Amino acid sequence: MCPTPADPTAPDSGSRVEASAALFERARAVTPGGVNSPVRAFSAVGGTPRFIERAEGAWLHDADGNAYVDLVCSWGPMLLGHSHPEVTAAVQAAVSRGTSYGTPTRAEVELVEEIVGRTPAERVRLVSSGTEATMSAIRLARGFTGRDLVVKFAGCYHGHVDALLAAAGSGVATHAVPGSPGVPEAVAAATLVLPYNDRAAVEAAFAEHGDRIACVITEAAPGNMGVVPPAYVDGQGFNAFLSATARAHGALFVSDEVMTGFRASRQGQWGLDGAQEGWVPDLMTFGKVMGGGFPAAAFGGRADVMALLSPDGPVYQAGTLSGNPVACAAGLTTLRLATDDVYSHLDRTATTLADAASEALAAAGVPHLVQRNGTMFSLFFTDEGVTEVVDFAGAQAQAQHRFRAFFHAMLDQGVYLPPSAFEAWFVSAAHDERAVEHVLAALPAAARAAAAATTPTSAGESA
Ligand SMILES: Cc1ncc(COP(=O)(O)O)c(C=O)c1O
Repeated sequence: MCPTPADPTAPDSGSRVEASAALFERARAVTPGGVNSPVRAFSAVGGTPRFIERAEGAWLHDADGNAYVDLVCSWGPMLLGHSHPEVTAAVQAAVSRGTSYGTPTRAEVELVEEIVGRTPAERVRLVSSGTEATMSAIRLARGFTGRDLVVKFAGCYHGHVDALLAAAGSGVATHAVPGSPGVPEAVAAATLVLPYNDRAAVEAAFAEHGDRIACVITEAAPGNMGVVPPAYVDGQGFNAFLSATARAHGALFVSDEVMTGFRASRQGQWGLDGAQEGWVPDLMTFGKVMGGGFPAAAFGGRADVMALLSPDGPVYQAGTLSGNPVACAAGLTTLRLATDDVYSHLDRTATTLADAASEALAAAGVPHLVQRNGTMFSLFFTDEGVTEVVDFAGAQAQAQHRFRAFFHAMLDQGVYLPPSAFEAWFVSAAHDERAVEHVLAALPAAARAAAAATTPTSAGESA
């Protein structure tokens, strides 16, 4: 979700694109940019976005009849792969009972019980998108604390909430400037943007504004600037540090697990750090996997904080389609099928692909880093000698022209990577040997294309 430059001159891959190109032209005539979420437009990599007509298991099939191994998985949700027979059956059964009632349902109770069973959240409210979840969590944190300021980290994406679209000013504890026209300066001014993993910056922000900070919100482990794990100092992870610092100042710690929830591990990122270290976030947000490919998301946390939410408390929040029965059926079936075996498979598959990508790039002489966090990973086309990317500035210092060449060479060979250098790669339970072999076979040529790429371009427009 990071800003990336457009490159309209990038060539289309060798695969057929006539049908996708025709659909894109029609789409652009009626929809801004031809897409309903910006990164889908391929602005960062150039060429024609593929219009997908169907998907099964690990494979996407486009309007021109091309097939791709999918390493995007709908940006995370498709943990079991596409068209999983049991999820499809649950959805069909739910649809046959009616698609929306605007009343409470058993499915909502069961989905929330499943989330509460896997996470430290004591109470959970269902919503329809991750954006809604983070927006509502922040309103609740402000309502609970009676304070206005929100601390976030540069490079962390929390959806298109006004207060969270703020871009970083300079370094430490700088009041943010709006990250998009349309975000009022007054709203951005209530957001402090800090460098990720920078404890001194967090301490300085709390020292200066501590009694005005409602909450710190962070991606539980960033995946929207590429995968940047929370760093450990003397055995304490960055999230544990944030939780302790917020508590010391009467602020709330909001852990955004929209991407990592039920994905990085069975218990999300919290299973990898909080559960080991013995701390819990005050509020958490979820989405993606818990909707099983449908619009469902959630926020939850401490019972005393959630008690402020309407109708029990005064903080208002609502949604016509919240807890939609079809989405709940898809999400519940997905979570119930997401067993330890599934997470072991994702782990092994991520290791195989990450290692192979790294080997191919090394063999082609391309400087790079692979970073892992649980079952998630991404590649950074860094300069020679860079050993770690710990924040957004590090992520931005990438050779994006190499990524573009790599991306198109993979696409040409039937592998669908995220069309931006700043995204995590996602695998699923359906990425079997055939799919993995297909990716492995494509890597050497893509690595050579990355090595041969010679046109750096400057940063600019938003993806
Ligand atoms: C960490 C995180 N939070 C929030 C969101 C927003 O979710 P949605 O796109 O469902 O609004 C995203 C989306 O990618 C995300 O990755």
